[in-house]
Amino acid sequence: MPRPLSIPPVLKFRRWWLLLLLTLTPFGAGSVMAASSLSLIYSGNLDGELEPCGCSEAGDLGGLKRRATLLDQLRAENPQLVVISSGGLLHVEGSGDRLKSEYILSGFKRLGYDAIGLQWRDLALGSAQVLEAGLPWVASNWHDDSLPVSRLIERGEARIAFFSWLDPQQSPLQQMQGSHTLVDGDVAGLHRALRQAKADGAITVLATELPLKLAASGLGLEDVDILIQRSAYEEYGEPSLQGKTLVLQPGSRGMRLGRVDLTLADGRIESWRHAVLPMPDTIADAQKMRGWYEDYNAAVKAAYLKRVELRKQREQGQSPFVGEEVCQTCHQAAYKVWSGSDHAIAYDDLEAVGKSFDPACIQCHVVGFDKPGGFVDMSMTGHLMGVQCESCHGAGRAHVEAQGKVSLPNSDWDKEKMCAQCHTQPHSPGFVFDSYWPKIRH
Ligand code: HEC
Ligand code: HEC
Ligand code: HEC
Ligand code: HEC
Repeated sequence: MPRPLSIPPVLKFRRWWLLLLLTLTPFGAGSVMAASSLSLIYSGNLDGELEPCGCSEAGDLGGLKRRATLLDQLRAENPQLVVISSGGLLHVEGSGDRLKSEYILSGFKRLGYDAIGLQWRDLALGSAQVLEAGLPWVASNWHDDSLPVSRLIERGEARIAFFSWLDPQQSPLQQMQGSHTLVDGDVAGLHRALRQAKADGAITVLATELPLKLAASGLGLEDVDILIQRSAYEEYGEPSLQGKTLVLQPGSRGMRLGRVDLTLADGRIESWRHAVLPMPDTIADAQKMRGWYEDYNAAVKAAYLKRVELRKQREQGQSPFVGEEVCQTCHQAAYKVWSGSDHAIAYDDLEAVGKSFDPACIQCHVVGFDKPGGFVDMSMTGHLMGVQCESCHGAGRAHVEAQGKVSLPNSDWDKEKMCAQCHTQPHSPGFVFDSYWPKIRH
């Protein structure tokens, strides 16, 4: 049995990208059945890395444009190739990440993956966006049938059934008020589906973010031929065996792809060979990704220019909103009441549940979202976070500049109409003006 080749600590990727971690490991005694072979390309957490920044050579690996080229090359060599991902494509933190995420989803579509596991981070744009992305997602314990329990990939004689398990404990929606659960914890259902796939002669693959020990104890791996565990590092891990299950650990940030060449007999893995394929800049960008990439850059630029425009307006004092601190100077009593109310911490509460980037949430938790001169993000418009004076009274610049002699835009509004902008049935089911108003009267 050959030993794994060791790689030098600093790899000169330009020359060596094809000569990598090679392991040949027989699984046990040879079978009498006729063997077939199957090549699997696998990847894990892209974590929002649409492309490498290219600031240093060592970090200049990966990106969807090179991945498209490499996959096309590999498919040309072997049209039977199976290409799967354990998911975790997105990483959404700031407002700019939304745009990138949308392009990652549309870019990934062009790569022709056979199956992609769903991870919680992929839902950062909302589940609707993910479902509509047209990608071959799999979520074996999704709460309804809008996502498949598994995907069957057929290549000649070989069949692969791909499963993916989302840990309900890690749901970001867990602490959110009134939110429903998106997954169930039906481990028995997973077992039944895995067993059925084995009975149908498929090789079963399960992707999950659960650590290996928990996956083994919590989910059970009896009917799992290949477990893809979470990517913890940029580097791919060496495959290992857990009982009879081959455990793969993909690297993160999309810098490399993993490859396992399997020898199959009787619906089981007999032996495997493992290789890691990095994607340095010697791999040309795929021609077919060109239009997509140009659109992406144009969209990023347009968003940037819009921000610059907003910033200019603000610096020239053109935003009609001024923020609570300005109101405080003349209305200290009202300010004091407001600053002790929950309205003042409405944005912090959004951050606490990890949703301060989601426009569908932000709109009611800040001042003037989507209005000219209103809240954009924390770095640009931090003075407009939370539900403030101007959320109810309307933009106050004209009032301030006139020392109070110009009344506020909403001064003729019904009080209840002010509240109804946000205290809607789905978000504030218990809202009754007469009981709510006394809590914030000023
Ligand atoms: C239409 C306006 C509106 C939208 C949209 C909205 N919220 Fe709220 N949110 C409210 C109101 C109003 C309350 C106060 C409810 C109450 O106490 O009656 C609230 C309260 C909250 C709280 C505080 C709960 C507590 O226990 O104090 C959190 C957290 C929160 N929302 C998160 C979210 C998230 C996450 C989203 C997006 C998925 C969202 N909100 C979208 C209006 C909205
Ligand atoms: C949640 C909505 C809301 C917020 C937030 C809010 N107000 Fe008000 N404010 C009202 C309502 C409603 C009234 C009562 C109007 C009335 O009685 O007709 C009011 C009354 C006032 C009045 C008194 C008007 C009068 O004739 O007595 C002043 C001044 C005022 N608000 C200033 C502020 C300032 C300053 C802030 C921020 C520090 C603030 N408000 C925040 C809703 C709000
Ligand atoms: C430079 C001082 C000053 C600042 C700053 C100021 N106000 Fe006023 N505000 C006044 C004066 C004076 C009045 C009383 C006007 C009157 O009664 O004719 C007033 C009245 C009001 C009223 C009741 C009358 C109306 O038009 O609805 C509200 C509400 C109000 N202010 C809200 C605000 C808010 C919100 C801000 C911040 C955006 C703010 N004010 C900033 C001076 C100020
Ligand atoms: C711009 C959106 C918005 C408007 C307008 C608004 N609210 Fe709210 N309100 C919220 C949000 C968001 C929260 C939850 C804040 C938190 O806890 O993070 C909230 C919370 C509250 C709470 C605290 C709830 C509790 O149980 O302690 C009261 C009271 C309240 N609002 C009253 C009012 C009244 C009365 C009005 C109208 C005069 C009003 N709000 C207008 C968004 C709004």
